[in-house]
Amino acid sequence: MSLVLTGSEVMQVLDMDLALAAAQEAFQAYGEGRVNMPPKSYLTLAKGDFRAMYGEIFLSAGDHICGLKWVNVHPENPARGLLTVMAKILLNDPETGLEWADLDGTHITNFRTGAAGGLAAKYLSRQDATRLGLIGAGAQARTQVAAILKVRPIQEIVVYDRHPAHSQAFADYVTATHGVKARPAVTGGEAVQGLDIVVTTTPSSSPVVLREWVSPGTHINAIGADAAGKQELAPGILQAAKIVVDDWAQASHSGEINVPLAKGELTPQQIYGSLGEIVAGKKPGRQSPEEITVFDSTGLIIQDLALGFAVYRRALERGLGEVKDFLR
Ligand SMILES: NC(=O)c1ccc[n+]([C@@H]2O[C@H](COP(=O)([O-])OP(=O)(O)OC[C@H]3O[C@@H](n4cnc5c(N)ncnc54)[C@H](O)[C@@H]3O)[C@@H](O)[C@H]2O)c1
Repeated sequence: MSLVLTGSEVMQVLDMDLALAAAQEAFQAYGEGRVNMPPKSYLTLAKGDFRAMYGEIFLSAGDHICGLKWVNVHPENPARGLLTVMAKILLNDPETGLEWADLDGTHITNFRTGAAGGLAAKYLSRQDATRLGLIGAGAQARTQVAAILKVRPIQEIVVYDRHPAHSQAFADYVTATHGVKARPAVTGGEAVQGLDIVVTTTPSSSPVVLREWVSPGTHINAIGADAAGKQELAPGILQAAKIVVDDWAQASHSGEINVPLAKGELTPQQIYGSLGEIVAGKKPGRQSPEEITVFDSTGLIIQDLALGFAVYRRALERGLGEVKDFLR
């Protein structure tokens, strides 16, 4: 028997506190070797791509989950009134293979990506970070803001998008939703220079953040680069930074570091470690107020499984969704 949950049903139980707890759980499990996660595989299309992501995680409470996410990225979709990223998640019992749940994964993807950014900010940004800059003002930027506001005392947000209308709408949304001062920037530099935390969430394949904009002590969440050839940061930033990846195999193939590694502008030895190692206490996070830190996020199936399972559990408790037997 499988519980089928639509996007609106998922949203009845999903919030950023749940997402942050699931992210903590997923990255800790990664750091402690309680996951089995082959790198995602890509179907490249003319206008975008699909990824198949599958894996297994042992949660600290004893739950054992495996599953699959099928997710697209079509950057031109907003012009057609469609989302760039949409997903479906299946959760299965690793003991028998039986399906537990069939979930819309779009909101789960956005929230788990935001939560990973929040977790990275918790371990890597300065504790007194009050100013947040954003390059890219789409769906991922929203959940990045929601998560970072939970972990740092942010008082001001500056947002730049290549479409000025997106920057303005995003700033209005942030102020209306979170009650935080937010303003649109006219240039990318304005959304980076002098700010404490910077988040990039564009599908760009050339740098949108320049080295000279980044001051000592800044933490950057590089979220947008999640396929081969994508890149948001000037290589000089990576040269100067403590680089933390979510997963070496995925990041070196498709994360922020993939292009500089391929061009020889960065070496594998320059990568500090993984967020999971830091969360599990195996390596320290930020070590000085002056460090520039970069979290290279590609997105891990274990994040989806941990959050998807938490959503499934809550939905079961609240009697949401429709139970189906797909075998009959
Ligand atoms: N790391 C992860 O786990 C993860 C998860 C989901 C999505 N992503 C990636 O994040 C990126 C954004 O996804 P989304 O769902 O927010 O998309 P979206 O289309 O909702 O938002 C992207 C925004 O970036 C803006 N933009 C595009 N190019 C730009 C540029 N050069 N400079 C400034 N702004 C620019 C667009 O106008 C748009 O407002 C995609 O590349 C996607 O593949 C990563």
